[in-house]
Amino acid sequence: MNNGVLLIGSGGHASVLLDMLIEQKINVLGYVSPLLAVNEKLFSGFRWFQSDEDILQFDKATIKLVNGIGSLPGNTLRADFYNNYKNLGYSFATLVSIDAVVSRHTILGEGVQVMCGVIIQTGTSVGYNSIVNTGSILDHDCSIGSNNHIAPGVTLSGQVTSKANVHFGTGSSVIQSINVNENVIIGAGATITKDVDKNTICYPARIFKKVKN
Ligand SMILES: CC(C)(COP(=O)(O)OP(=O)(O)OC[C@H]1O[C@@H](n2cnc3c(N)ncnc32)[C@H](O)[C@@H]1OP(=O)(O)O)[C@@H](O)C(=O)NCCC(=O)NCCS
Repeated sequence: MNNGVLLIGSGGHASVLLDMLIEQKINVLGYVSPLLAVNEKLFSGFRWFQSDEDILQFDKATIKLVNGIGSLPGNTLRADFYNNYKNLGYSFATLVSIDAVVSRHTILGEGVQVMCGVIIQTGTSVGYNSIVNTGSILDHDCSIGSNNHIAPGVTLSGQVTSKANVHFGTGSSVIQSINVNENVIIGAGATITKDVDKNTICYPARIFKKVKN
């Protein structure tokens, strides 16, 4: 990874990434955040840069950025940061936990982060700046768009596709061959059995049915 990486952020998602970087013995040049680290012990010993301006002192040809800004529904901070620094000529490290099982026949875009416990099967691709979070399963031949967040414990069956900016909420399940359009939020725990139109929020079923005694 050339001359090392700069980690952006110091919250929960950044902590998990820092843990991965340390484990993989990747040279961490420091972290960039206006805020104290959530996990101060983990971050201690690494150089702290408090402003995004500080990134500009690093040579974009020899370092990579690690986008540690987490991604929650409706918040575009992570995507905005990626776009701004790509436009400035920086590139982003693609990271895969050593505890993830990823087929050799997958394509991971720039800046994709695959966390521990993930399984990605053959023929699947994941677009730039997406997070494939802890313990999620992406079965064969899925095509995931850019700036997606596949939250912990999601299951995508084979041949699921998504466009840009989709949030698959924690523990949601999507059956095979479903197409999810852009700017969609799949609620935590939802089960998706039909294609989803753009700009839609999918809530999990909350059906209460009286039964006769
Ligand atoms: C779908 C979601 C975006 C809905 O947000 P929202 O429209 O702002 O909904 P609200 O928070 O106003 O909740 C409205 C009601 O629906 C319920 N509700 C919302 N999401 C729910 C869910 N996923 N499962 C069950 N109930 C849910 C709320 O408890 C609330 O119930 P009430 O009216 O009885 O009080 C959100 O709840 C969600 O699931 N986000 C995903 C979180 C996630 O994946 N996090 C990952 C972090 S790594």
